[in-house]
Amino acid sequence: MEKQELLYEGKAKKVYATQDPKLLIVAYKDDATAFNGQKKGNIQGKGAINNRMTNLLMARLEQEGIPTHLVKEVSGRETLVKKAAIIPLEVIVRNIAAGSFSKRYGVEEGLVFDAPTLEFSYKNDSLRDPLLNDDHAIALGLASREELALIRKYALAVNRLLGKIWRACGVTLVDFKVEFGRLEDGTIVLADEISPDTCRLWDARTGEKLDKDRFRQDLGGVEAAYVQAMERLTKGIQPPEQGM
Ligand code: TMP
Repeated sequence: MEKQELLYEGKAKKVYATQDPKLLIVAYKDDATAFNGQKKGNIQGKGAINNRMTNLLMARLEQEGIPTHLVKEVSGRETLVKKAAIIPLEVIVRNIAAGSFSKRYGVEEGLVFDAPTLEFSYKNDSLRDPLLNDDHAIALGLASREELALIRKYALAVNRLLGKIWRACGVTLVDFKVEFGRLEDGTIVLADEISPDTCRLWDARTGEKLDKDRFRQDLGGVEAAYVQAMERLTKGIQPPEQGM
């Protein structure tokens, strides 16, 4: 499957049409932004790592019954995916307080929750991705109540499965953001990416951050952290035999 016209360029990925109207090619970039694009940079090698990591994890989630947009990795940075209309919700699941949760509620980073918390943000850069609840999402026509219930169920299942995968690699899954889309027939699928850009990953023993917080907080060793997260994952997870 060949890339055709560029349909969309986001902060970290480009999306191309293909000969098949139901399929797209996603190309991962090394560009990094934070704080709604205010901070800009480049993390060398990130695109290839995020592509590979997303695909390994989505293939595993698919095996466990979570529908995803993944079709096939086509190159180091590119993946063929099913065309899905992205629902403009950032679905965030947290196991430990960090980032905007700590800031908003004035709690120390590292507070371990008894149960995962789930929140939605409205994916809208000009509004700075405001937090919203189910009623708000329905009022804005973003999704139906039934779709939100399914998204919630999938996101919590993703948390359980990813938590287990990372635990086996000696990494704590602190929190993550996922996005969902609708296929032509309305089926809800997990889309976007699952990578150190979109997850907080801490070394289970030392607490060292192996994710984009190193870039957000100017902690240094950004590239090495992405490489380390990917190495941990490939040691703890066997790539699926088919479909890659
Ligand atoms: P937060 O604590 O900044 O709200 O982030 C929660 C999780 O979501 C964290 O793993 C990083 C991820 N995230 C994104 O993937 N994209 C974003 O735009 C933001 C703000 C967070």
